[in-house]
Amino acid sequence: MRLFSLLFVSTLLSSIVSAQNIAIIPQPVSLQTLKGNFRLTTQTTIGYGQTAGRPVADMLAARLNAPTGYHLKVQRQGLIQLHLNAKPNATLGNEGYTLDVTAQNVRITANEPAGLFYGVQTLLQLFPPGIESQTPVKKVVWNAPAVRITDYPRFGWRGMMLDVSRHFFSKEDVKRYIDRMARYKYNVFHWHLTDDNGWRIEIKSLPNLTKTGACRVQRYGKWGQYEAPKPGEPATDCGFYTQDDIREVVAYAAERYVTILPEVDVPGHSMAAIASYPELCCTKDTSIRVNPGSKFAEWYGNGQFKMLVDNSMNPSSEQVYAFLDKVFTEMAPLFPNAYVHVGGDECYHGYWENDPGCKALMEKEGLKNTHELQSYFMKRVEKILQSKGKKMIGWDEILEGGLAPEAAVMSWRGLEGGIEAAKLGHNVVMTPNDYVYTDLLQGDPIVEPDQTSYKRVRLTKTFEFEPVPDNIDPKYILGGQANLWSEKVLTIRQAEYMTYPRAWALADTYWSAKGNKNWDAFIKRMERHMERSDAAGCNYARSAYDAIVTATEKDGKLFASVATEINGLDVYYTLNEALPDSYTLHYTQPVEIPEGPVTLKVITYRDGKPVGKMIALPRAELLRRTGKQTDDD
Ligand code: ACM
Repeated sequence: MRLFSLLFVSTLLSSIVSAQNIAIIPQPVSLQTLKGNFRLTTQTTIGYGQTAGRPVADMLAARLNAPTGYHLKVQRQGLIQLHLNAKPNATLGNEGYTLDVTAQNVRITANEPAGLFYGVQTLLQLFPPGIESQTPVKKVVWNAPAVRITDYPRFGWRGMMLDVSRHFFSKEDVKRYIDRMARYKYNVFHWHLTDDNGWRIEIKSLPNLTKTGACRVQRYGKWGQYEAPKPGEPATDCGFYTQDDIREVVAYAAERYVTILPEVDVPGHSMAAIASYPELCCTKDTSIRVNPGSKFAEWYGNGQFKMLVDNSMNPSSEQVYAFLDKVFTEMAPLFPNAYVHVGGDECYHGYWENDPGCKALMEKEGLKNTHELQSYFMKRVEKILQSKGKKMIGWDEILEGGLAPEAAVMSWRGLEGGIEAAKLGHNVVMTPNDYVYTDLLQGDPIVEPDQTSYKRVRLTKTFEFEPVPDNIDPKYILGGQANLWSEKVLTIRQAEYMTYPRAWALADTYWSAKGNKNWDAFIKRMERHMERSDAAGCNYARSAYDAIVTATEKDGKLFASVATEINGLDVYYTLNEALPDSYTLHYTQPVEIPEGPVTLKVITYRDGKPVGKMIALPRAELLRRTGKQTDDD
């Protein structure tokens, strides 16, 4: 009797513990926890059901075999059964699935293989973190708690952008980035392939683009402060993808139900193309080199800027349209995505204003200003794309001067561009920089790798993002993205650090049902995914654990206030140079900072253990912070 009840209690306990450990990102639409666990053993079989389910079953077997060391059989019927619905379940759509885990077996159903793939991602997240390991892990009981899940995405466009121009990422790095995003049910990889700092895609009919445009002079130090190329200096820092590389990455992404949105950024951001073919710009300046990260622009705030080097294509030149025709002729068949991104952002019109060809074109076409001239350019580009069977998407500047007839808009300078485009009946992808730009600081610059970022987007801010503004027909909002610009990102580990956990928060936003957000619950799930990422060898930032230190002056005295993003943390501090820990001063209210060469050192703890990084702020830095309006700048 005693033995029986002990057994009963321990079974109950283990099912409670497993249920508490359930931490799915993105949060499923409906999740019911049941009693018991499904145990993966050497005898477990994977059933693919229909032939179309086979690749997903094979992928699941590979994911399970690596950490367990098992050699699971994939056959038509199995203990883990995939099943494609003969009659589509309307609730599930193209990407939804049901997942039923019982002590005996697992069943995933979907209308399409993509749904099976997403069901598999959820199933994998039910197993212990070690399941993410790529090498066998010993002494783990591979249990998945019994659940019943019905799940489908809120948005069809769940993207991540990676800039490979400012810094080049190898095709292996790009695949890794795609593999990680697919685990969180992202399905669009926006590949920013060209910019001022490198042209990264082979165009066979335009060989200079990769011979010249993919190379720049080697520099070390701080981006934006590098020395400009010296005359005659060899350009040895090179990188581009051959068309075979592109096909390989596209296929790899497709296996993960990720479609690739390629971007060729025109008419601005084109210095690498212009360095390759100087006739593309108004000045035809043959001394223009691929920019290595040296200063070439002046930014005046309020969206005003001046390019000190001509990096804009000439909208009055037929050679430019012939060039783009060649580029898109070769690109269109490489990328199955219906859309091609053509940039359109931050184009400097100063060289156009003084160019006789541009002036004559404006006169001839009745274009009132250079915004209308850019609009003329974008409309011509749209026609070229349409002739290749593609649709155009561009950054929200393409609204200025009149939107091309069928264009979709990627709204980055806030939500306003997206709102305007949706009101005009155009499709929109929402990527407002102050919520989803993952190149921006996520914590205190004192302890972040990029100390000079112009802006901050903390995890809390990203978590709050709602892509559908009020009074907009939601059907025009295709979805959103997390965008990573790579000026300060040199390695894939660094890219991951910038991407996660903010992209986990956004995975919820883009996939999960609206209105189910709960910060504390998200943090619990985030922590489980940090463990999983550790097992996978994938990087992420712990910046959300760090203290947020602001400063104010009152009656001639300086005060420091400390807050935390994550609830339930303790803050300890010192003013006497000692390292802060749980035995030093406990923060409860704003701290007066004495006169003199004082440094405030703070650290966060939870349950008696340090969880944040120590932040040391000299008095001068605190004084500087008194001038700040918000924590964002
Ligand atoms: C952008 O961030 N310039 C689109």
